[in-house]
Parts: sequence; C-alpha cells; structure tokens
Amino acid sequence: MTLNIAVIFGGRSVEHEISIISALQCINAIDRDKYEVVPLYISKQGDWYTGKHLLDLSNFRDLDLLLAKSHRVILNQNSGRANFYLEPKSIFTKRSSISIDIAFPVIHGTYGEDGSLQGLLEIMNIPYVGCDVLSSAIAMDKVTTKILLQASGIKVLDYYSFYSEIWIGSRDAVLSDIKTKFTYPLIVKPGNLGSSIGVTAVNDDVALEDAIDLVISLSQRVLIEPHITNLKEINCAVLGDRDFAEVSVCEEPISSEEILTYQDKYSGGGKNKIGVCLGKGASGGMSSAKRKIPAEMSQEMNAKIQGLAKQAFISLNCSGVVRVDFLIDQNTNEIYLCELNTIPGSLAFYLWEPLGKSFTDLTERLIELARKRNREVNNLTVSYPDNILKA
Ligand SMILES: Nc1ncnc2c1ncn2[C@@H]1O[C@H](COP(=O)(O)OP(=O)(O)O)[C@@H](O)[C@H]1O
Ligand SMILES: [Mg+2]
Repeated sequence: MTLNIAVIFGGRSVEHEISIISALQCINAIDRDKYEVVPLYISKQGDWYTGKHLLDLSNFRDLDLLLAKSHRVILNQNSGRANFYLEPKSIFTKRSSISIDIAFPVIHGTYGEDGSLQGLLEIMNIPYVGCDVLSSAIAMDKVTTKILLQASGIKVLDYYSFYSEIWIGSRDAVLSDIKTKFTYPLIVKPGNLGSSIGVTAVNDDVALEDAIDLVISLSQRVLIEPHITNLKEINCAVLGDRDFAEVSVCEEPISSEEILTYQDKYSGGGKNKIGVCLGKGASGGMSSAKRKIPAEMSQEMNAKIQGLAKQAFISLNCSGVVRVDFLIDQNTNEIYLCELNTIPGSLAFYLWEPLGKSFTDLTERLIELARKRNREVNNLTVSYPDNILKA
C-alpha cells in the first residue's frame, strides 16, 4: 500500500515564503515510487488548502488565483485514522476525503516550528516528521534554549532578556540595566523568530532603542547579547533521535554584511528580496546561500563542534533533522551554541550529500523516524478499557 505523506507548509509565520521554498524542495525529494505526496498549504490567514497547483512554485506569485484553484480542507479523525475532507466547490459536488498516513511539517517559525502544529498532529495521532512538541517549543525559544543548554554544560553567549510590556512600562530602567551589564557593540534579537528577522547590531543608545522597538513589533520577548565582532559562524546538522543520532559535515555560511541576513540565507547574498528565489524554480532557499562546505577549521575544532551539536540534540530530546548553529569568537577561539533550528531551511540536505546521503535518502530516514516514534507513543497506555462510570 502506498503511504500518503502530507507535506504541511506556509502558515501564520513571518517565514511563510521560506517555508514554501523548503516544502517544494522536500516534495521534489520524496520517493514517489513509495509515497503519495499530498501538499497541505496553510495560508497567511491560517486556512488549509490542498491541490496540484500548490506543487508549482511559480503559482505562488498570484496567491488569490492559486487559492481559487485549490481546495479548502478540514482535518478529521475517523476511528483512529486521520484524513482531510475536501470542501466541495459547490453544493452540487460531493465531499471527498484523503487519508493521511504521515505528516511532514515544513513550516518555519510560529505555529509550525514551535510545537503548536506538532501538538495538533499528536492529538490526531498522525505520525509526523521532526521534533516533538516539547523539543520544538524549547528550540523555538532562544532564552529557554540557553537555560537548558547551560544546564547541560554547553556554552552559550551571556544575555539579557525582557518581555515587551516591561519595555513599554519601564524603558529607562531597562536601558540602564542593559548598560550596567554590557558595553557596546550589542546584538538585539527577537526571543523566538528565525531567518534573521528583527536581528540588529547596535553601537549606541539611539540604535539600541530603535532595535528594541522593532523586536517588540515582532515578538513578545527581546534578547540582548554582546556582539562578537571577529565572528566565524559554523553550522552542523544532526539526524536521528535519542537512540541513535549522526552528525553531518560542518558548513560556514558567508555573510555579505555585519550579520548573516535574510538575503544571505535565501538569496545568495546581496540586497535581493526573497522574490528573487521564485524565478529559480524550487532551487532557491537556504541551499542557494553562500557557504563553505566543509567549513575550514582544524580537525580538533570540527570534532568539538560535531560533539556539541550531538550533545545539544540529545539533551533537548530532538528527533528528525536539526541544524545546530554556532558562533565562534575568533579573538578567543571560544565556541558558543547560538541556536537549534528544528525545521532548518532546506532541511539542511546539502550537509548530508558529502556523506553520500541524498536528499531522497534524508526524507526516507525522516519518515522512518516519524513512524518509529509514533509506534513508541502508541505503546503507552492512554486509556483503560473499563468504563468505571458503569458502576
Ligand atoms: N551575538 C552575536 N554576535 C555576532 N553576530 C550575531 C550574534 N547573534 C546573532 N548574530 C548574527 O545574526 C544572525 C542571526 O542570529 P540568530 O540568533 O541565529 O537568529 P535567527 O534565528 O534569526 O537565525 C546570525 O547568523 C549571526 O550572523
Ligand atoms: Mg540563526
């Protein structure tokens, strides 16, 4: 029996477009002899759609037309089997359904990478690719990640964080706290976003205030860190689960500016907007960024980073593929773990290819891991057969 894989993408997230690119790359990689792919697109408003037109990146130029040609779907559970009802286009057409065997979430950021979608899939008992609810939620929150990594003995950069209402109510006190703790230059970033959105390097009070104002329009929590000016960035992916995890080769992303920007990550550098990627079919996204693979560094440093990546993955009980990003201060050679990307752009497929694992092999392994976890979860007792209310 061919299994139906629902690739879920888009979503109510500022990284919506990145998700579309990553998802279409993933759909192209999945072995069609073994699996039927069902695209499930969540619009910016949160409506769910399926249909063949969602498989072509160029159709996303005109969203209104695309959605008019696609089918609205309703998630449903029928005696333990999940399916999607396709909303009839008119009252004269019948309602049809598609069964879902495995979900492959490729939503970056809010409501997709942060554990909320994973929670919905858990409730529906649909096996799903990638991290579970807790590890997704932890990795999405940069402050919680730092606290837990520190508890596991992994070095992270010192930080100061606060919620937006504290900034609105006591701006001067917050500024004074920051300046007591740190000296410029600093980095200001949102507590729970990705793709460098809202990340700013600041050198003075005016820029600091502007950067914080920008972050509170995007996120409820602000994070301030010292700015590593002589920086080397290294990323390393980890694949597996807590029973068996393997590490990829390391990459060094190259930035065109002071910090690695949204454009560096998705448009190969320069000042291009994300729209530039759309012209290249499904070949844009994180895989089109400038990078050195393998990263140039000593064998000792390479082994240390791979070890830390695996330690972090297991400490947070991650599963699937996670890209772990590090910041190295080249003045001191100190390695700081920056963040874990549980739905890394392009699923970091390009970090496995040098090890002989194709993108198709990677998707196959991710699907296997999803089924394994679902079997393990279904072995747990969740209800008793006796109805004690009978008595
Ligand atoms: N403390 C720092 N010092 C220097 N550069 C930083 C620092 N923190 C972040 N950056 C730069 O900003 C980029 C984005 O920051 P990051 O914390 O990874 O957020 P995101 O989740 O948006 O990717 C990093 O890839 C790096 O180039
Ligand atoms: Mg990052």
